[in-house]
Amino acid sequence: MAASLAELRGLATRSIQASMSYGHENRENGGMVEGRVTRGTTGVNRLRRVDRWIATLPVLRRTDDPLVVDLGFGASATTALELHDRVAKIRPDVEVVGIEIDPDRVARAALEARPGVSFRLGGFEIPLPTGRRATVIRALNVLRQYDESEVARAWATMLARLQPGGILVEGTCNEIGRVCSWVALDASGPQSFTVSLRLDGLDVPSIVAERLPKVLIHRNVPGERIHEFLKSLDRHWQVNAPLSVFAASQRWIATVEGMRADGWPVLGTRARWRLGELTVAWSSVAPG
Ligand SMILES: C[S@@+](CC[C@H](N)C(=O)[O-])C[C@H]1O[C@@H](n2cnc3c(N)ncnc32)[C@H](O)[C@@H]1O
Repeated sequence: MAASLAELRGLATRSIQASMSYGHENRENGGMVEGRVTRGTTGVNRLRRVDRWIATLPVLRRTDDPLVVDLGFGASATTALELHDRVAKIRPDVEVVGIEIDPDRVARAALEARPGVSFRLGGFEIPLPTGRRATVIRALNVLRQYDESEVARAWATMLARLQPGGILVEGTCNEIGRVCSWVALDASGPQSFTVSLRLDGLDVPSIVAERLPKVLIHRNVPGERIHEFLKSLDRHWQVNAPLSVFAASQRWIATVEGMRADGWPVLGTRARWRLGELTVAWSSVAPG
């Protein structure tokens, strides 16, 4: 169906607004800061689900320079400090650099810097001390406030700042971190998609439709893979409802096993599923 004039006007306006407000000079290093200031909403423990997934990444154990970036840490230092605590359990020498595009937020967070955690002004270009690159970049709830058309460029800019074998984790969650999803990318592009949900009291897994990464959030419509994925997840969760008398985690594990039996390329192990997590190969949910 052809787009209406109003839709086309909307698209053009959004794209002009996006390009007009994208980027400004970084007075600290003379380079360009890529992106724009958005709402700074954050919270204690909000990113625990993605952090514990990040802590399992083999590259963090392998690297000679364990440097993790918290891109767009928001209105407080909290998520960067927590990321450091969690990753330090498996890599005590990890360094976390919080990068934020809003100078006032950087100044406030800098008051909480401590050994292993520092804060810098910057954007998707990820300014790091000379020659250093990130092992992992976590960009949670950042692209949510951008236009879908801006995702590819932001991803490419961040991917160029990774060490060999490094991983970009980009996604979204609700305010209290009980409904989360993220894409993991390496230098060659997106590799996997993960959903992580608090299982107690979970009605339907497709609640995550409201918290999909920007690249997927407008794709939950018939004919798109992510739509089939969420429908299938809801169906298995429903079929396995009787297992919740044992534990919600048993019901989720059976749900994931059902998905795998249907042919979804499920990654990871039961130890992860028990947490309300499900990771699949990106190709199975990628926009069509
Ligand atoms: C909603 S907050 C998310 C805070 C935290 N990551 C969380 O999930 O709780 C988004 C933050 O990202 C920042 N931001 C947006 N675009 C950015 C960019 N290109 N580079 C760095 N920070 C950016 C915004 O200024 C805002 O403070």
